[in-house]
Amino acid sequence: MTDEVDAGRTLELDRAVFHSWSAQGALAPLDVERAHGCEVVLGDGRTLLDFSSQLVNTNIGHTHPRVVEAIQRQAALLPTVNPAHANRARGEAAQRILRAAGEPFSKVFFTNGGADANENAIRMARLTTGRDKVLSTYRSYHGNTGAAVVATGDWRRVPNEYARGHVHFWGPFPYRSEFWSTSPEQEVERALHALRRIVEAEGPGSIAAILIETVPGTAGVIVPPPGWLAGVRAVCDE
Ligand SMILES: Cc1ncc(COP(=O)(O)O)c(C=O)c1O
Repeated sequence: MTDEVDAGRTLELDRAVFHSWSAQGALAPLDVERAHGCEVVLGDGRTLLDFSSQLVNTNIGHTHPRVVEAIQRQAALLPTVNPAHANRARGEAAQRILRAAGEPFSKVFFTNGGADANENAIRMARLTTGRDKVLSTYRSYHGNTGAAVVATGDWRRVPNEYARGHVHFWGPFPYRSEFWSTSPEQEVERALHALRRIVEAEGPGSIAAILIETVPGTAGVIVPPPGWLAGVRAVCDE
């Protein structure tokens, strides 16, 4: 635990940090010093339950001993590797991801983060289909880079709309339905009908990809009702 002077010092140092998606002048960040399991400890010693798993990305808990041990072991061996080289740990990770993903996947492309992954996915879809348009939902987050931020469905994309070929549609959300539905089944049926109509209106021959989160997280946690993901898959196949 730091004393009060030290806790103040953290926030003073933090003024040099640009916080993404924030009005810089209005910032009052938490001074998070460390974390273990599902708890974070603040600079002033208070312990909080981390209900958000940081950015919904630490779902196995903070500082899990096996993860810490693995990072320490690899850092002592080889902390970074030229992408052109082969490496046992990276190959092992790729094989495990392929086993989890199943057929027909045969390659894993490691990127630096989520936005980078989506940029490359969009480029690959455009290159392999020869088509341009990318459909994604409102109430989504895909990253803060050129195409990923425009694929993002919330208002934060608007001042950033410099990438072209992005079309948005409403996904299912029974709590705030755009489709006047009265049940999850009806919500899915109507959302899929709306998606089909958008595909027809945009021209199926011009669409390179439909980019969606399985469970939108950063733009609000929305667990899709049963049938939505399979239904979108079917629309893509059609
Ligand atoms: C669904 C989704 N896609 C993409 C991103 C962007 O990831 P990154 O911040 O690693 O670029 C996020 C980040 O929160 C995300 O939640």
